[in-house]
Parts: sequence; structure tokens; C-alpha cells
Amino acid sequence: MVELILALDLPARDEALRLLDRLPGLRWVKVGSVLMTAEGPPLVRELVGRGLRVFLDLKWHDIPNTVAGAVAAARTLGVHLATVHIAGGDAMMRAAAQSAGGALPVVGVTVLTSQGTAADFPERSPRSPHPSEESVDAVVVDRSRAGIRAGLAGVVCSPLEIERVRQAIGPNPLIVVPGIRRAPDARGDQARVAGPAEAVRWGATHLVVGRPILEAKDPTRTLDEFLSAIG
Ligand code: C5P
Repeated sequence: MVELILALDLPARDEALRLLDRLPGLRWVKVGSVLMTAEGPPLVRELVGRGLRVFLDLKWHDIPNTVAGAVAAARTLGVHLATVHIAGGDAMMRAAAQSAGGALPVVGVTVLTSQGTAADFPERSPRSPHPSEESVDAVVVDRSRAGIRAGLAGVVCSPLEIERVRQAIGPNPLIVVPGIRRAPDARGDQARVAGPAEAVRWGATHLVVGRPILEAKDPTRTLDEFLSAIG
């Protein structure tokens, strides 16, 4: 079953809880660095206490010992999914996976959607000196393979890379995908977008949706529409 995760990109607890009161059909929320820095573990415990599954998206990228400690702390908090940067390297990812110990799936961020030129990927520049869609895709695929080899439970990529990543990492790992937009939704700053049904068909396991629901006139109805689209 494909899961929809609401990105709780809101500045504070009260606003987040007010919105959640209107979304009884929701199973997953994503808490990122803004809300975590503002509200901290008490809010995460409160969300878990409401029966929600929490994706703690802090995109760790640090020395292995520190990342292993952060993963252990996230386990204690009771979250259900967490992120590291694959660019943090093999030893860091192995430390994260070992600390998670099968109890907490840790997925690896391949490439930030804000990066997309050859200058962002010096490791690719000898073969691919000019920025191109192809070079970004190749980095995403290389990093996905590296993440799974190091023991991560899955990866985060844009919708347009799902098929190539799925082919590269096989049928089992998680593929978590932001940048989900239906035809009438504003793209905002997302350049590489696709609809929810397409993302599912291409092989995503978790779709992360923020502004199309957060900014909807009727968030309850919009969430239901997304849920029907993913079946
Ligand atoms: O509002 P929107 O639907 O674009 O939200 C997508 C969420 O996914 C945001 O929380 C954003 O930070 C996150 N994200 C992303 N692209 C990535 C990684 C995370 O949009 N590559």
C-alpha cells in the first residue's frame, strides 16, 4: 500500500494541530527542521500519541558516530521514518542503518531538488562537463545504489527519477517522493513534479505532499482527493 505523507511545513504547534483536527483520514506526517527546531520532541511525541506515523525529515549529514546517535534518539522518540544525506558517505550510512537496527527505516536523500547544475556535482564533471538533466539523473541513480548497498531502507528522489531508481535498486526498498502535484495545483518552487497516480505507477512507496493540502481552501476534501488518486 502506498502511503501519503503530509509535509507539516508550518511554523508552530497550534497551527499544525488545528490543521490535523480537520484531517481525520491522515496516517502520516512529515516533521522537518523548521517545526522540529521550533517545537522539538514534545510535538513529535504528541503527534505519535495521536496515532500518527511521523517521518522525521532532518536530513542528517555528519560524522558516523553523531548520525548513529541521532538515529538512536529518533528511535526512542517513536518516529517511523527518518532521513540522512547519501552524500554523507558509506560509513555514515552504515552507522545510521546499524543504529536503526531494523526498527526505524532510514532513507537516503539522493539530490536536493534545489541542485541541478554540473557545478553541484563535481564527481560527475569529467564525464559530463555540461549541466544536463541526464547528469542529475545519473547522480540520483548512483547515489540510490550506494544508499541501498550501505544498508538504508530506501531513498528520496523526485518523481521524474522514480522509474530509473526502481530499476536500479530492485523491488523492495522504499522510494519516498516529494514534488507531487495534480494538474490544477500550483507548482510553487518545485520544478520536477508529477501527479500522485503517475508516481505510484512508476514505483513510489511514499508520496510527500505539502502546499497542495496546506494551502487548499478545503484541506479535508483535497486530502481525500489525493488518497483516492493513489488508491
Ligand atoms: O509543499 P510541497 O508539496 O512542495 O512539499 C514537499 C516537501 O518535501 C517539503 O517539505 C520539502 O522540503 C520536501 N522536499 C522536497 N524536495 C526534496 C526533499 C524534500 O520538496 N528533494
